[in-house]
Amino acid sequence: MQLHISPSLRHVTVLPAKGLREFIKVKVGSRKLSYRAVLYSILLGTFLLRFFFLLTTVDTIDGETSCSTLGCLGKRIGPKITGRSPESIVPEVIYQVFEEPISHEGIVGGGEDVAESLEDFVAQMKDTRPDARTFAIKLKSMVNFLEERTRTAKIQEYLYRHVASSSIPKQLHCLALKLANEHTTNAAARLQLPAAEQVPYLVDNSFFHFVLASDNILAASVVAASLIHNALRPEYIVLHIITDKKTYSPMQAWFSLHSLTPATVEVKALHHFDWFTKGIVPVLEAMEKDQKARAQFRGGQSAIVANNSEKPRVIAAKLQALSPKYISLMNHIRIHLPELFPSLNKVVFLDDDIVIQTDLSPLWEIDMNGKVNGAVETCRGDDKFVMSKRLKNYLNFSHPLIAKNFDPEECAWAYGMNIFDLEAWRKTNISQTYHHWLQENLKSDLSLWQLGTLPPGLIAFHGHVHILDPFWHMLGLGYQENTSVADASNAAVIHFNGRAKPWLDIAFPELRPLWSKYLNFSDKLIKSCHIRAT
Ligand SMILES: *[C@@H]1O[C@H](CO)[C@@H](O)[C@H](O)[C@H]1NC(C)=O
Ligand SMILES: *[C@@H]1O[C@H](CO)[C@@H](O)[C@H](O)[C@H]1NC(C)=O
Ligand SMILES: *[C@@H]1O[C@H](CO)[C@@H](O)[C@H](O)[C@H]1NC(C)=O
Ligand SMILES: *[C@@H]1O[C@H](CO)[C@@H](O)[C@H](O)[C@H]1NC(C)=O
Ligand SMILES: *[C@@H]1O[C@H](CO)[C@@H](O)[C@H](O)[C@H]1NC(C)=O
Repeated sequence: MQLHISPSLRHVTVLPAKGLREFIKVKVGSRKLSYRAVLYSILLGTFLLRFFFLLTTVDTIDGETSCSTLGCLGKRIGPKITGRSPESIVPEVIYQVFEEPISHEGIVGGGEDVAESLEDFVAQMKDTRPDARTFAIKLKSMVNFLEERTRTAKIQEYLYRHVASSSIPKQLHCLALKLANEHTTNAAARLQLPAAEQVPYLVDNSFFHFVLASDNILAASVVAASLIHNALRPEYIVLHIITDKKTYSPMQAWFSLHSLTPATVEVKALHHFDWFTKGIVPVLEAMEKDQKARAQFRGGQSAIVANNSEKPRVIAAKLQALSPKYISLMNHIRIHLPELFPSLNKVVFLDDDIVIQTDLSPLWEIDMNGKVNGAVETCRGDDKFVMSKRLKNYLNFSHPLIAKNFDPEECAWAYGMNIFDLEAWRKTNISQTYHHWLQENLKSDLSLWQLGTLPPGLIAFHGHVHILDPFWHMLGLGYQENTSVADASNAAVIHFNGRAKPWLDIAFPELRPLWSKYLNFSDKLIKSCHIRAT
């Protein structure tokens, strides 16, 4: 005999050893109905009655019932099982035990040896012939045990999906190590970037300036190659790559060894920026506080996992909020573009999970009507799944501070490829607003929003966004496979936002070539790290 509890804790199946005659499957459909109450009733139906030697036949019981107590359920389910009311045979004390709230003493008191399966349980009952109360407590302990095990497995499954998307695959790690080695041993990997004659271009506003912040060399190489190969006048392109301290040497080595002339490429680590090294740096301070707050978020990791009344999906989401992925400095850096590039008037900021498929210089001809941030919207379009994001999807509108200041139905916009008019930006207090709201969120124990840098961005740029034609930036290639390759091929920029990044095993195979065609698989370094086309 077997008992299955579905990972979602919404289905219960009891499979007898022989045949399907006594097969019982229950779906707990209604929210009113506690899953546990149904489970106990089923078990009572099968076991207790089996105990009293009343063998029965059941097909499927539907969860569509408005009962919320065991007594009522017993009446509904019982007769179907037995053909008679169970009240007459089920001792009252059993219902009492089931309806008592679960306490740890209760479970421990129920027996040192909790049955770990139905077979165990039946065997125990046969051996010990307990009274009704002990029977009920033991049954309850077993159910609890099985539930806990199911729940833990489910949390692990959700976390595994998160880890699969946020951990660094060994090929990327290999590439960084090999490049770091090149940087120390090979002079050709330490070229000054850009070349001396190109340095004046870095601050020349007649050029097209792109900024890419990334600590992923392979991803950055695809963004850079796709940007420059598709440019009509690559000699007017200046790409500013910002990375962190540890990625700087390998990133520099890659772009030294893989020149993209006639374009200008600059590689800089955060600590190379004047603005960053001198004076008060609000972003660092904010990050430190954010990091602390997240470490203690809802009592920290162990308290989150220990909360038995929470759904596995919610627990996994809360654990994710603690992930370093969401506190990385690289993610917050774009809010300081005006300070990082004091001489530039306009830049296009690129995420590292995009591919550029057309010449982007026309972006400089778009009239932004005095707005600061040119972005595509995320609530209109044919793809209802991807295009369904409004402010209410990112911000907690149960919080008065959010509800008072924003409209939940307002369309959100996307990061990934944004035109930033730095001149207009410098006349606003967008960066201060951003930090002000980061503080508010910390003060309220991360209850305004939990994940990512988009929510505070939506707040800080509120009223400063110019909507771009969707052609310029197609979203969703990392979280649903339904994207048609034909549609994707026609977009100016495609964005692999979502879990299935093109450099991971979990990438969607039919979309990956749009990204991998910008890698040279004959390249010595790519080959030696076993980075393959499929
Ligand atoms: C567990 O989660 C529930 C549901 O969100 C919440 O009401 C409760 O306060 C949490 N308990 C603890 C101990 O954090
Ligand atoms: C930003 O400026 C606006 C108007 O100039 C002002 O109302 C607002 O309080 C300022 N916000 C911050 C965070 O300084
Ligand atoms: C949303 O805000 C309310 C009110 O402050 C708070 O009780 C709730 O926990 C918040 N939700 C989340 C998911 O943080
Ligand atoms: C993808 O397409 C299939 C078939 O058209 C459909 O059943 C499925 O719901 C779609 N998935 C999403 C996430 O839109
Ligand atoms: C790819 O790499 C090989 C080996 O380094 C090189 O000979 C070839 O020119 C590269 N191809 C392209 C398109 O850059």
